[in-house]
Amino acid sequence: MRYLGPLCGAKTAPRTLLILLLTLLLLGLGSLSPAVPGAQARTTAATARPWMNRSLSPDRRADLLLAQMTLDEKLALLHGWSGGSYVGYIPANTRLGIPALGLEDGPAGVADGMTGVTAFPAPEALAASWDTSLMRQYGQALGSEEWGKGANVALAPTVNILRNPQWGRSFETLGEDPYLTAMLASADIEGIQSQHVIATVKHYAANNQEYHRTTVSANVDERTLHEIYLTAFEYAVKEAGVGAVMCSYNKVNNVYACENPYLLATTLKGTFGFPGFVMSDWGATHSTVPAITAGLDMEMPDSTYFGNALKQAVLNGQVSMATIDEAVHRILRTMFAIGLFDYPTTGSPKATVTNAQHAQLARQAAEAGTVLLKNDGQLLPLDPSKIHSIAVIGPAASVAPQATGGGSAHVIPPYVVTPLQGITQRAGSGVTVRYAQGITTTGTLPPIEAQYLTPPSGSGQGLLGEYFTNMTLSGSPVLTRVDSQINFDWNGQSPGPGVPATQWSARWTGTLTPPVSGTYTFSLTSDDGSRLYINNQLLIDNWRDQATTTETATIQLTAGQPYAIRVEYYQNGGASNVALGWSIPGQENALLSQAVELARSSDVAIVFVNDVESEGSDRSSLELPGAQDQLIEAVAQANPRTIVVLNTGGPVLMPWVDQVPALLEAWYPGQEDGNAIAAVLFGDVNPSGKLPMTFPRSASDLPASTPAQYPGINDQADYSEGVFVGYRYYDERGITPLFPF
Ligand code: BGC
Repeated sequence: MRYLGPLCGAKTAPRTLLILLLTLLLLGLGSLSPAVPGAQARTTAATARPWMNRSLSPDRRADLLLAQMTLDEKLALLHGWSGGSYVGYIPANTRLGIPALGLEDGPAGVADGMTGVTAFPAPEALAASWDTSLMRQYGQALGSEEWGKGANVALAPTVNILRNPQWGRSFETLGEDPYLTAMLASADIEGIQSQHVIATVKHYAANNQEYHRTTVSANVDERTLHEIYLTAFEYAVKEAGVGAVMCSYNKVNNVYACENPYLLATTLKGTFGFPGFVMSDWGATHSTVPAITAGLDMEMPDSTYFGNALKQAVLNGQVSMATIDEAVHRILRTMFAIGLFDYPTTGSPKATVTNAQHAQLARQAAEAGTVLLKNDGQLLPLDPSKIHSIAVIGPAASVAPQATGGGSAHVIPPYVVTPLQGITQRAGSGVTVRYAQGITTTGTLPPIEAQYLTPPSGSGQGLLGEYFTNMTLSGSPVLTRVDSQINFDWNGQSPGPGVPATQWSARWTGTLTPPVSGTYTFSLTSDDGSRLYINNQLLIDNWRDQATTTETATIQLTAGQPYAIRVEYYQNGGASNVALGWSIPGQENALLSQAVELARSSDVAIVFVNDVESEGSDRSSLELPGAQDQLIEAVAQANPRTIVVLNTGGPVLMPWVDQVPALLEAWYPGQEDGNAIAAVLFGDVNPSGKLPMTFPRSASDLPASTPAQYPGINDQADYSEGVFVGYRYYDERGITPLFPF
């Protein structure tokens, strides 16, 4: 039914035979005419490195090479090294001519801080296209850009099933259905590997949440595991011939995925017959002997367990040479099969690999993935000969387009065409297009200025900051100072003398004196955790390991009255920042009033709203962050011809859905954002996308939503819903979703 990748040896046998015959013929001719110098050199090279003979099978070539390797050379292939320009790196073996491995994320473009690359739409937009041939092109483009950057292993695709849509990596997935995911992932893999770049299907297995992702156990019964969570991996192996599998951070049935014999040895390598290699997610290896025995072949990104510790285990007989040989053979075999020896990358990390065709593909994919959820009264498509003015509203429309997701899948776009630019250009000179931001960028409010803050000493401005060398604000602070505002971005560095860069905490105290009476909105943004107390009452609880997340809350305050204020913060690892903002009553509405005014005085209003998803944290709820719901409601009231465009990584709750006639889901559309959405809005292309996931009416309708199911209690997440995931759950319960799969 499908193109079978180069790992499927049986299917390529006739071609192999032909090449073998031709090579024998060539070698034969060479021996008949030893005077031809080129032929002599070829023969010597073939004798010296017989594994370079392309007519042999990948298995045979791996056998020949393995036979020449010392123990140290073998072990060098089984773990990551520092020193390359890639997120994962294994240096070349020049003695034997084994190419270096450069591993780089995926899946929506070359990631990990590389520039000069194409920012494609998020994978779920491709899932919404339901178009495997488009997905194959997307994979090809990614593969060729990886290759051009000198990377030969792409850490893509992500095929985990969207179990609870609060998962912060929802945008990276291909939705909630195992078969759709399997079909699209296979096409993506075939595309990537056609470029002589090994694809890595991830994260194996049942990695469905960021919350406590490195400690949580997904407790899943066998049927559910196979019917829902392993299906796409099975197809990736059997249909697409994927070269690598990445095992995940979490435990499955209380055994870490990267040392889980049932998952790795029994199922993946046994039942599925996977001939490639298994690498760990970054830091997901937890042992030496159990991990390699269970079937882990490569530790990434370093050598904590598969470096010296593995060598010792071999020397003292805990790990057999056969086990080492099998792991090395799998890696070499895959490198031969995908063409890493025969078509070695000549690219470099500094190369510019994006081009006009890839930009065009990015646009086409964004258009094809856009889903028309609602179009009452045929408001769409817009006809520029009938409308004279358009109000374009929202941070995502211009100042903060939500083109890509965050975390390891974040791609640095060479440019982003904003919706405002795209619509203005497409509307032409006969239509006036004007912009209003409406609210601050995704709910972060302006920082509270020092003039409203007083330290506990009662003199001066700002708050007293106390910094601790632990994450629990315990013991005596190592650093005490007055900070004028809470608006810090330390970016993973130490905040001051004596405080480490990671695993620390801080508390700021003093009083807050509001200038006017009324309802204040506070916003607290942080990576990792933070919380705000006013008069010892917890007002905002943002206390968890997470990527930058904003929480807001409102409170009634009286002018001139001092309130005790306390902000607490902790940094675990990675990026670090905290910001406390507010809106002063009477002043917060300036932005909103402009947007409402603009909507009222325009023929049509288009509001762009977004969430901000990233690896590292889950969405705290399915509500649109900040004041975006209020923005939509206010605009829709001002202009009944209001269109809402969602730039979200998954479903959101829509309390305003009945108030707006037209609604589109455009996902994270990549660098061609504005061009793609303008083409859809004006009817140049048909919004033919279909949801690859269910949008619920309310949070209580979500599958897997009890605390025991998600995010789990005491790191035990019980998949007690069984196979009733996504639309299966809604069907089984008879729940009508807001918008169905
Ligand atoms: C992610 C993987 C990614 C790896 C390397 C991990 O944190 O879970 O998906 O490939 O980092 O960047």
